[in-house]
Amino acid sequence: MLQDVILIKLGGSVVTHKERAMTMNKMAIDRIFKTFLSVKVPIIVVHGGGSFGHYWSVKYDMHSKPDRYPSDGIAIVHESMILLNHKLVKSMMKFRLNPYSVSPFSFISNNKPIAKKIVELASMTRDKIIPVTYGDIVYRTNHKYSILSGDELMTMLSYVLKPKKVVFAVNVDGIYRDPRTKDLINTVEEKSQIKFSSVNFDVTGGMKRKVREALKISLSGIDVHFINGFKPDRLLKILDNKITKGTVIKGKRSSKRNAR
Ligand code: IPE
Repeated sequence: MLQDVILIKLGGSVVTHKERAMTMNKMAIDRIFKTFLSVKVPIIVVHGGGSFGHYWSVKYDMHSKPDRYPSDGIAIVHESMILLNHKLVKSMMKFRLNPYSVSPFSFISNNKPIAKKIVELASMTRDKIIPVTYGDIVYRTNHKYSILSGDELMTMLSYVLKPKKVVFAVNVDGIYRDPRTKDLINTVEEKSQIKFSSVNFDVTGGMKRKVREALKISLSGIDVHFINGFKPDRLLKILDNKITKGTVIKGKRSSKRNAR
């Protein structure tokens, strides 16, 4: 039987200082992992690239479109993500969270997710392990590579694992109707409620992509939450089914059920 899990994405803009190359946000990280100690449900963590992977992928002009990118670029993006992942895993160790780092390379082959391996990640959570994976540059097919974002990974893992909840921890309070006025959308029942032209935009175009992936996940019936990663107590509230500041994109099936 598939183990119930919660899938959490730690945005690169939360775990790193986006404007400073290869710099972790130690305070934010410690706060998040300290909060994880109070989480009593099985979780799987995905993290983004922030000023590690993104910094180099921009320098080498590497994208999500499969292409024959320069080998030194591939190596450096990958190495920077391993470094960030290692730093995060080390801080989790400090809090005795039992992290287990997993490269996305190990569950993707021939451009497709290996469901059997992904299910094993969920099984591991029963042993008080927290699997931690990350966006990376990955081999596709025919000597082409592409950036697989942590956001796309969230969709890939969600399709296989059907998590109870999916949470994106980002550097703002949630999805804004208009980023200029910071008018927060609390609940999204219909895709049309989100105007893509005004979705808060960050340098890497990150927020738009997160919302796009979140909408895909919600179509498989799963509620997707956006919360401020700098206020990790909000994560606990979500896991406790309590109301907190943030945006929830209601799972399509569950919203139908509610309407009945
Ligand atoms: C980035 O993953 C992966 C690389 C650039 C190698 P994400 O695109 O999910 O990262 P953030 O969360 O937006 O920084």
